[in-house]
Amino acid sequence: MTDTSHARGAEQLRDLIAAELDRTRARTALLTDAVDDADLMRQHSPLMSPLVWDLAHVGNQEELWLVRDVGGRDPVRQDIDDLYDAFKQPRKDRPALPLLAPGEARAYVGSVRDKVYDLLDTVRFGERPLVADGFAFGMIVQHEQQHDETMLATHQLRSGPAVLHAPPPPEPRATVGAEVLIPAGPFTMGTDTDPWALDNERPAHRVDLPAYVIDAAPVTNGDYRRFIAEGGYDDPRWWSAAGWAHRVEADLTAPMHWRRDGDGWAYRRFGRWAPVRDDEPVVHVSWHEAQAYAAWAGKRLPTEAEWEKAARWDPVTGRSRRYPWGDDDPTADHANLGQRHLWPAPVGAYPAGASPLGVHQMIGDVWEWTSTAFRGHPGFTAFPYREYSEVFFGDDHRVLRGGSFGTDRAACRGTFRNWDYPIRRQIFSGFRCARDARPEESRP
Ligand SMILES: [Fe+2]
Repeated sequence: MTDTSHARGAEQLRDLIAAELDRTRARTALLTDAVDDADLMRQHSPLMSPLVWDLAHVGNQEELWLVRDVGGRDPVRQDIDDLYDAFKQPRKDRPALPLLAPGEARAYVGSVRDKVYDLLDTVRFGERPLVADGFAFGMIVQHEQQHDETMLATHQLRSGPAVLHAPPPPEPRATVGAEVLIPAGPFTMGTDTDPWALDNERPAHRVDLPAYVIDAAPVTNGDYRRFIAEGGYDDPRWWSAAGWAHRVEADLTAPMHWRRDGDGWAYRRFGRWAPVRDDEPVVHVSWHEAQAYAAWAGKRLPTEAEWEKAARWDPVTGRSRRYPWGDDDPTADHANLGQRHLWPAPVGAYPAGASPLGVHQMIGDVWEWTSTAFRGHPGFTAFPYREYSEVFFGDDHRVLRGGSFGTDRAACRGTFRNWDYPIRRQIFSGFRCARDARPEESRP
């Protein structure tokens, strides 16, 4: 690379980062300007922070990583670091903290952002691994987008009239079969090359899987309604011991935000009740419910590796793509991402987003539970800090993949990994099932 092309590359990277920061802050503003100050300070569920905590926390992380670490600048508000440290302040306790009021929080995140734009002009991307290819900026964009999705889940939990508006997702444009056979063999899982991929997506490594069959689309409301109607919630044989204990204790009878509506069901979406539509992926189910459904259906949840091979592996070239459709960034034709719509799209709405083997809607719509507990890939190294993912490794959390309608494209890739407790369902979580291939199916 010549010096001039290097300089041009750096300029393009600065422009890209500035555009991503702007786009992300516009979403944060939309989510926090949609309600009044009292609502911003209120806790809508003990599972969630007041929205104003998320807002200032986003600014505080940006200050810590970009202003202080990358920029080497003086702190903007060192006095509030502890208030906005997610590890020091459990969510349930956050409303009682002396939080910045909405006006102060907005002014704070604005002054941090001004300093970031200033240092972006002069930062040298080759100087340290933290800023190589703009990584620290990408990490902060993704962090803010992840909190935006969390704030969207808070909006889903708040009572009162609807304040968010979006057009409905597209109607089906293709017929989708039931299942897809994924042939036996190795594939590359994880990545070494995606510049903004986070530590837990690295390194790339080979995984050899036997043949298996995976659902061509996420489990739908229609499928799930049959599980309910046939007594799935009343029969402990479909549930794990922990799942059944939770089912009883929490008195689960249907996905979160559902209620009976005559003979059918209705689903509350951001302040509006709508009839449950059978061809949409089911959302707001816990890992335990997903596991019970899969057992009832005579199947199981896919492992994380099975999910990723079905999403990324190209049988023609043998390589793993960034996304099911290829390496290009998602567009509105590929997937239901980025809060463009406020609920999952019906099955068949995104034929252009299907994988080479014909698996649909792996990206967007609903986060998909896998059977896998969250751990580092072989060769994992924490970067840039253990608290991003390593402290969550272990059997307590299950991996979710693929992003939801509330996930931004910046925080979603074929390698992107999310995790949560198996009882959680305030997130935009659904699933698809898998099973081992039968011998007659897997014969070449
Ligand atoms: Fe955070």
